Amino acid sequence: MERMRWFHEARFGIFIHWGLYSLLGRGEWVMLHERIPGEEYAKLAERFNPEKLDAQSWVDLASRSGAKYMVLTTRHHDGFCLFDSKVSEFTSVKTKARRDFVKEYVEATRRAGMKIGFYYSLLDWRFPGYHNREKYPESFEEMVKQAHSQVEELMTQYGKIDYLFYDGEWIPGIEFSRTMAKGQEDSPDIAKLWRSQELNVMVRKLQPQIIINNRSGLPEDVDTPEQYVAASSKGRAWESCMTIGDMQGWGYVKHNPNLKSTTRLIQYLVYAASGGGNYLLNIGPRPDGTIREEEVGRFLEIGKWIEHHGESLYGSGTLPEGFGQGMLGPWTARGNTVYLHVFRWPGEIAPAAGIKNKVISAHILATGQEVEVEQKSQGRLFIKGLPEEPPDRHDTVIKLELEGKPEAFNYEGIPL
Ligand code: GLC
Repeated sequence: MERMRWFHEARFGIFIHWGLYSLLGRGEWVMLHERIPGEEYAKLAERFNPEKLDAQSWVDLASRSGAKYMVLTTRHHDGFCLFDSKVSEFTSVKTKARRDFVKEYVEATRRAGMKIGFYYSLLDWRFPGYHNREKYPESFEEMVKQAHSQVEELMTQYGKIDYLFYDGEWIPGIEFSRTMAKGQEDSPDIAKLWRSQELNVMVRKLQPQIIINNRSGLPEDVDTPEQYVAASSKGRAWESCMTIGDMQGWGYVKHNPNLKSTTRLIQYLVYAASGGGNYLLNIGPRPDGTIREEEVGRFLEIGKWIEHHGESLYGSGTLPEGFGQGMLGPWTARGNTVYLHVFRWPGEIAPAAGIKNKVISAHILATGQEVEVEQKSQGRLFIKGLPEEPPDRHDTVIKLELEGKPEAFNYEGIPL
């Protein structure tokens, strides 16, 4: 589908969780987790004044990391908007900072030629109706109305928006699932309560090319596995979002030492691509908008790896099942070219099986060094003359030109 093309080609995006909660350094759920009353929490808005924040610095980092799109939390579950809203006083424009951060983010992202994504939480913890719909039905309805108005504002105030990432669609006491949708409604009762059908019709009217995720109770365009990488059912677009640190805490967590290594992050990215999906990697900037060194370092290193391996990633497709078996690492493809991502470097000879095609040539992608290929019966393949040590410490990619479209060797009923 033409509308989805950029998304499939992009493969890598940057998620940003940033808001009032960043001030406390205990994650974006701090208001609910610590049962902070609304009025007390609201006082944070008078301290939220990141004078030095320049959205350009986020976008620069994202571009240098090789990401093709960004997604910013325009509003999280605490209800605080980083944009100008006529239906709420609880915004960065009407409090201390007096700035429309969404506008600044959009302008910087657009200037860099990256695709623009908005995260928006439907639920707002400040409404009693969210916590108890039966007891406060009017408050619940008010919250739904607010969501519709604010989504409309987001879709009209900032020009073309490429991606809408809903979240917070769950409602206490209502059955909820976000299974990999196969075209059916995911959570019909939830979609009914948010009036998601109506909401998304409005969104698509205002932004006909927009891509919408599966978190409004409806499947829409994209499945969003969280904190793991897993391909959706055939035909469904998908994107795995993930934190660099612990599972808990997408927003800034002051002491969060358990960071995934760059190698690990690159592996997740490649696994996503090899399954035809995207990888949305999160940053939780400090309250002043700066990003901690360990995170910056990882993004820059991913960018360096992508610089030499981009063609195996962007716009890559999946391979037929059974193609390229073995334990060295996953494969990506582009037309008649396939890429073996060697995560576990074997030394001189890299063996693989399940390859029916004749291999025309093989190269180490990053260096261009040609390598020899020996093909044996039953789809067995040996890439020879490789250096003893891996040329890239994260993922050395070997590029193979095939005769014809990649086809898997069929082992059914064939004994060893
Ligand atoms: C969750 C969390 C949230 C985070 C999000 C990212 O649903 O509630 O804090 O923003 O996932 O996907």
